[in-house]
Amino acid sequence: MSRLVVVSNRVADPRKAAAGGLAVALGDALAASGGLWFGSSGKVVERADGGAPGEAKLHVQRAGEVTLATLDLAREDHDAYYRGYSNGVLWPVFHYRLDLADFDAGYIEGYRRVNRMFAHKLMPMLQPDDVIWIHDYHLIPLAVELRAMGCQQRIGFYLHIPLPPPLILAAIPAHEWLMRSLFAYDLVGLQSQADMNHLRRYLVTEAKAEQVAPNVFAAFNRQLRADAFPIGIDVDDLLAMVDGKEAQETMATMREQYPGQQLLIGVDRLDYSKGLPQRIRAFRKLLERHPESHGKATLIQVAAPSREEVDAYGDIRRELEGLCGAINGDFGDLDWMPIRYIHRTVARKRVPGLLRAARVGLVTPLRDGMNLVAKEYVATQDPADPGVLVLSRFAGAAEQLTDALLVNPYDTQATADAIQQALNMPLAERRMRHERLLAEVRAHDIHWWRQRFLDALMEIDA
Ligand code: G6P
Repeated sequence: MSRLVVVSNRVADPRKAAAGGLAVALGDALAASGGLWFGSSGKVVERADGGAPGEAKLHVQRAGEVTLATLDLAREDHDAYYRGYSNGVLWPVFHYRLDLADFDAGYIEGYRRVNRMFAHKLMPMLQPDDVIWIHDYHLIPLAVELRAMGCQQRIGFYLHIPLPPPLILAAIPAHEWLMRSLFAYDLVGLQSQADMNHLRRYLVTEAKAEQVAPNVFAAFNRQLRADAFPIGIDVDDLLAMVDGKEAQETMATMREQYPGQQLLIGVDRLDYSKGLPQRIRAFRKLLERHPESHGKATLIQVAAPSREEVDAYGDIRRELEGLCGAINGDFGDLDWMPIRYIHRTVARKRVPGLLRAARVGLVTPLRDGMNLVAKEYVATQDPADPGVLVLSRFAGAAEQLTDALLVNPYDTQATADAIQQALNMPLAERRMRHERLLAEVRAHDIHWWRQRFLDALMEIDA
């Protein structure tokens, strides 16, 4: 069995309770092969403390069967690579927000520099028959750098965010370089068929690649295989969490705090891609149109702080606070507040309790690669009395979760109507939709995703 080497911007100890679904999923595969997980430590070193750009201290530690190798980045590297290019250029453009992209020429150098440094630090740790799996937009050119140093191992890449249409990608000044660097991988995985269509069109029209098979493209003297591998969740792990102490406590608190209420839940990172202002406006419209919901429907919106050093995130925070405050002021009463807005991270083990307690799950991003909260909402419901998922058609999950109420989040009225429909949906219809959704979520779970990607990578003649 080959050793698995995972590379991602963030690294988590898979054994820790706070580790997310991805960490748990990859943790299993890493542990089974005695693998290595390589990435940044999250610690930033100031110049005054010796943090020179392009240099980083490597820490290697064992976590059970897995080796964790992490780098402390210098302030200038972190600012250009993470805050600047990854989150100030690639994140907005890949989420179709050219208006928010900051194409400051300085960032790309830092992005390249850090990718090169990752390669230099990783290369000596590699063994000849390793299989390398690189994750997400922070590390697109990493395989180019590894290949330049003589790396012959199989390398796969998975993009966790959407891939936009060719003309949007082409707005990135260095788009040719960026997309060409995908050809250093043996396999590229995307979240959805829509993303796959965009990649195909980009490669054929912009990169003049030849499509030699449905998912194989030839250009720059290399062949690239690409496919959609929609990511899933660990359903059993989540169900165990629903039964756990924290989730049960959370449900009990909700019952006490909101007796006789119909709860709507949103759990998101506070990110402009999540469509939070649009969601709040849709809820406002519902309250305007349906006075019978006053005193009965309460929206609990958890917005976890995220990337606060990037300007656009401060703007969305202020907008959201204004919208929520106005609704509570205009519609609230002594015994009822329409929105409970929580700008904090809720512990991972409590979230399943929140989801289970809510009659309606609101997942309405303007664009999202997949959105696992949508799948978690489905999996946490009581099959005998399930809630209803209102899902944006612009989330990757909408390709699979077709039995949700699919909405266009830009259409405030239609979204409000869908929420109203969800609040009033008869039990028989709720059950029927939920049964189909759960079957889908179970069939394509996180283990299926990981296995399918790694099998596809191993099938390729390296
Ligand atoms: C998205 C990205 C991940 C990222 C996460 C949190 O899901 O695809 O790569 O880790 O957001 O963002 P952060 O910038 O805090 O790592």
